[in-house]
Amino acid sequence: MTNKRDTIITYTGISNDPASVIQVSTAPCAETLAADEVLVEFIASPINPQDLLVISGKYPVQPSNRHEERLIPGYDGICQVVGVGAAVSKLCVGDRAIPLRHGLGTWRSSAIVNESLLIKVPENLDPVAGCVLKMGAMVAACLLRERPALRPGDWIIQNAGGSTIATMVSQLARMSGVKTCSIIRDRPAAQDERRRLLQGGADAVVTESELEAASGAPLPILQGKRVVLGLDSVFGESGTRLVGQLTLGATYINYGSLGGMDKELRLTQQDVFWKRITFRNFRLSEWTGSMTTDELQDLLQWLSEAFVSGQLRAPAVQLVDVSGHDAEHHVQAALRNSTASSGCVGTKKSVLVFRKGITGVELRETTPASAPKDLPVRAAATMATTGPTGDVVVAAPPEATASA
Ligand SMILES: NC(=O)c1ccc[n+]([C@@H]2O[C@H](COP(=O)([O-])OP(=O)(O)OC[C@H]3O[C@@H](n4cnc5c(N)ncnc54)[C@H](OP(=O)(O)O)[C@@H]3O)[C@@H](O)[C@H]2O)c1
Repeated sequence: MTNKRDTIITYTGISNDPASVIQVSTAPCAETLAADEVLVEFIASPINPQDLLVISGKYPVQPSNRHEERLIPGYDGICQVVGVGAAVSKLCVGDRAIPLRHGLGTWRSSAIVNESLLIKVPENLDPVAGCVLKMGAMVAACLLRERPALRPGDWIIQNAGGSTIATMVSQLARMSGVKTCSIIRDRPAAQDERRRLLQGGADAVVTESELEAASGAPLPILQGKRVVLGLDSVFGESGTRLVGQLTLGATYINYGSLGGMDKELRLTQQDVFWKRITFRNFRLSEWTGSMTTDELQDLLQWLSEAFVSGQLRAPAVQLVDVSGHDAEHHVQAALRNSTASSGCVGTKKSVLVFRKGITGVELRETTPASAPKDLPVRAAATMATTGPTGDVVVAAPPEATASA
């Protein structure tokens, strides 16, 4: 037994205000492994919209692990294997891995898990890319497969255009000549966001109010184009406006409810009868449930290689240092800023950083034009300048700003 202590984030009850129920504890590291188990240390874990749904009791899959009876949230993240049981065959000490299925509880600095719950990723994969590999890039890749006959010159229209998934859709679509029109919420710095997303792979960026002003007529940029796929992660008014831009025989897919779960989509007979739009939903867990582990591994490998080669670029994120005494304050602030109802427009995805002393890890962050007041951005930036070799390095290289 060493003196090392784990940082473990739990929640004390379900709430629409996740920051109010979150608790950060420390406990001695567990080290005894069963034959098929591995000991992993989490490098970084994102705060995804899905995590907020889990904590608010609105997501069907609950966390599978607890600390002192409290549930451990976090379904995504990247970890490093630091110990293996006697019968472990797929992972070795030093390997990097991500969770295979929902529920693992990634908001903790280390965990003992069955090796079958993890999937190996390349050692040279950027940790931020690792954090968005499954719930970002893989979702985007699977969404594009929902409309298999996409051809060069086809257009996709999508809302929440600055989200991780939307930016991944734009990048992946561009690889096969398919164009994307990304809808963003209105904001004072809309031009900056437009530029950022255009540099990051979108072919057109339109604000919700510009779309509303079109009153159901095709946007000028989409005039005469085949707008064959609509990807809606907001629903309600935004989803209704998006449907209005789709052309004959298009497919509409709802995959999120950022605008709230109580909203309605209004359809006209034009949409259903004359345009013959197909309405579908998408759930990653259904997709992955129908894939073999080999198929999943192959897709993740392909996406990882695309990140490593630079074909895909990880989004700008805000790093949240949870390795120190003020971790709870930092997590609460990040959760407040991530919560759709109270979050600022333009807030980047927060990534909880558990490991500062890992060799070879370089975590990059960019800060939005108006940084949310409460986030420990400054603390992270300080690490960048003062961290000794081998610490997490937080930097904001110019190219990351354009990486959407
Ligand atoms: N169906 C599935 O299997 C599946 C899997 C993974 C994720 N999802 C869903 O996919 C969506 C995107 O996830 P993500 O991880 O890519 O998100 P993300 O990177 O965390 O970004 C979410 C962005 O959405 C925008 N947004 C927030 N509230 C909004 C609202 N009311 N109206 C319009 N835009 C809003 C915000 O951008 P601005 O502040 O710049 O406007 C926010 O930054 C979420 O709904 C998530 O639950 C679904």
